[in-house]
This record gives sequence, structure tokens and C-alpha cells, in this order.
Amino acid sequence: MSTQLDVIPLAKPVIGEPEEQAVLDVLRSGHLSLGPRVPAFEAAFAERVGARHACAVSSGTTGLHLALRAVGVEAGDEVVTSPFSFVATANAVLYQGARPVFADIDPVTLNLDPAAADAAITERTRALLPVHIFGYPADMPAFERRGLPIVEDAAEALGARYADGGAPVGGRGHPAIFGFYANKQMTTGEGGMITLGSAEHKERIDSERNQGRAPDMGWLDHDRLGFNYRLSDIACALGLAQLGRLDDMLAARARVAGWYREALAELVAERGVTLPCPDADGAVRGWFVFVVQLPAGVDRDAAVLALRDHGVQSKPYLPAIHLMSYYRERFGHRPGEFPVCEAVADASLALPFFPAMTEAQVERVAAALAAALT
Ligand SMILES: Cc1ncc(COP(=O)(O)O)c(C=O)c1O
Repeated sequence: MSTQLDVIPLAKPVIGEPEEQAVLDVLRSGHLSLGPRVPAFEAAFAERVGARHACAVSSGTTGLHLALRAVGVEAGDEVVTSPFSFVATANAVLYQGARPVFADIDPVTLNLDPAAADAAITERTRALLPVHIFGYPADMPAFERRGLPIVEDAAEALGARYADGGAPVGGRGHPAIFGFYANKQMTTGEGGMITLGSAEHKERIDSERNQGRAPDMGWLDHDRLGFNYRLSDIACALGLAQLGRLDDMLAARARVAGWYREALAELVAERGVTLPCPDADGAVRGWFVFVVQLPAGVDRDAAVLALRDHGVQSKPYLPAIHLMSYYRERFGHRPGEFPVCEAVADASLALPFFPAMTEAQVERVAAALAAALT
């Protein structure tokens, strides 16, 4: 008889009957793209985050690209952003021929530090691109005081609430980008959404995601450069079904995070493991991942292997963008430029985290981590 352990995966989407039915309905309707599910999903999502408008797009990355275009980022401009993010944040700036200018992060929230961002602003800065990393809301009032256009990378932050008033992230009026890859709070397989307050930006983004075609134009007429960044009706139907159970999925994630806090308390007190910062000043995290920072001196690669031997998946998450080989070679970045980000990036480890995770699984992960650190 095999004694193989059940492997606890890093992430696992919640997909069931509502999603299957929604997708089947679209398939049977024969209207697979540019159909009625797109505006229906946009309207439901906008309402959910309290935004005036929303534009469904093919991914969070393409959403970032279109949002940066909408706020006027062009070739030669600079965009101040966080080096502690998924690489797509900075890549989207490069798609526009602009330059991502990094500034260091806050050691507690792990978000772009407003004072560091201020110091990075030059006369070429066209926009700020704060990231709500790991679902924790960035300090928006501090960025808004600069008076520059802002795009919010909220790809990881569905369900989060801003500190100043507790409104949902995405409803502030600046274009905010959400991502629906399969590990996110809700998924459409691949997909994204831009929420925004400006009707003019909405019109531009709707056109640019659809090859540059205005709504009143003929099928093969295009009055501006566009892209194919559309989201299909199949994906939008999936998104509507997921939205219907979003509250339950967010609550389940928050519950799992609570179990982790209890299960890891000893490792925090005795071994110096650092947990995601608790909500403060009225901000609410939209739980996306559970990332711990290992104490100094621990060999993280060895810890990953030890966890794997216990049937627990884990991943160093996230590496610093400026130290990725492409960014080093293109911009000459070197270690030491953003010390807080680099220290956090070197110590961070994502543990299994998904809504269906049980308390017993969380305890198994905690025990495996304790063994890995001894
Ligand atoms: C912070 C951040 N920005 C942007 C993206 C890009 O989203 P997508 O994978 O949907 O293109 C992600 C996705 O993981 C992300 O975590």
C-alpha cells in the first residue's frame, strides 16, 4: 500500500455547478464573444466595488496597459511604482515605451512607500502606479496629494477596503486593475477588469481593447490604434457566477488566514517568522496569498524542499522586479538600490492558501514549516 502524502497545493479555485451552468448557457447561446455577458459582468463588478464604470479585459496585464494609456502615459515618460510586485506591473509601463522608476517599500505593509515615491518623482513623471500588494491597500491619500494621474494595481486586492473610510478598493475613480487568473480571489481562468470613474476613459479603453473600433463604427473600421484585449462571453459568464459567491470565498480566505495566525504563533514568537501585517487604521486586506517572511539565516530553498517532503507546496514570492535579469540588463539595476524590498523579497515564502483549505491542513503546513526550520 502506498504511504504517499496528500499534497497541499499552493492555490485551488472554487468551481462548481453555478460556473458549469453559466458557461454551458453561453455555449448553447452561440454568442461566445462581444455578447451580452460582457456588459453584464462589467456592471455587476462596478457595482460590487462602487465604481462608476468597468471594462472587462483579457488579463490584469492588458488592463494595466490600457489604463496607463488612458491616463496619458507615453513613450519617454516615467511612472513611479513598486519593485515588490509581479513583473507585469513594470512590464505594462515598458509596453508604452515609458520607464518604470522604482521606489522602496514600507517594511510593514510591503506597499510602495509614499515618501520614497515622492523622492523618485521628476519632471518626466507622468503617473504613479501603486500596487495593493498581497491584497493590502496602499496609502492612497498620500499618493493623491501629488496631483499626478494614478493607476492602481489592484490585481491582488479584490475585497480590500481603503483605510480612509473603508470604501472598497477600486471605487476611488482612478483606473484600478483587477486580475482573474486562477489563483485570484475570483477567477475567469484568465481575465481582468479595469474599474474607473471617467466616462471618457471608459470609451477609450472599450475601443482600444477591441482593435480601436468606436461603438458606432462598422466592423472593419478603426479610428485609432487598438489591441485584441477582449474578454470572451464564456469568461464573463464564469466571472458572473464567481461574483455570486465572492462574499463566501472572501470569508473563507479570511478564516484560513485566521487559522494560520494561530497555528504559526509559536514560530512567530520563538523563531522570528513574520506574518502578513494585521489590518490597521481601518484598512481591510482582501486576502489573496499567505506569505510569511523567514528569519534571517534560514536557507529558503532548503525550506521549500523540506516542505515538499511533507507534501506542502510553497514558493518564494515575490522576487524584486529590479533584480530580474531583464531589468538588470536593460536598466543597470544592482542589489542595494531598494534595501527594504530586497530583504523582504529574499525572505518571503508563500504557503498554501485557498478557500477550501481546512484547519487540519493549515496545522499540517505549520507543523511542516516548524520541522523545516529546525
Ligand atoms: C500585482 C499584480 N499585478 C498584475 C498582475 C497581472 O495579472 P494577469 O496575470 O491577470 O495578467 C498580477 C497577476 O498575478 C499581479 O499579482
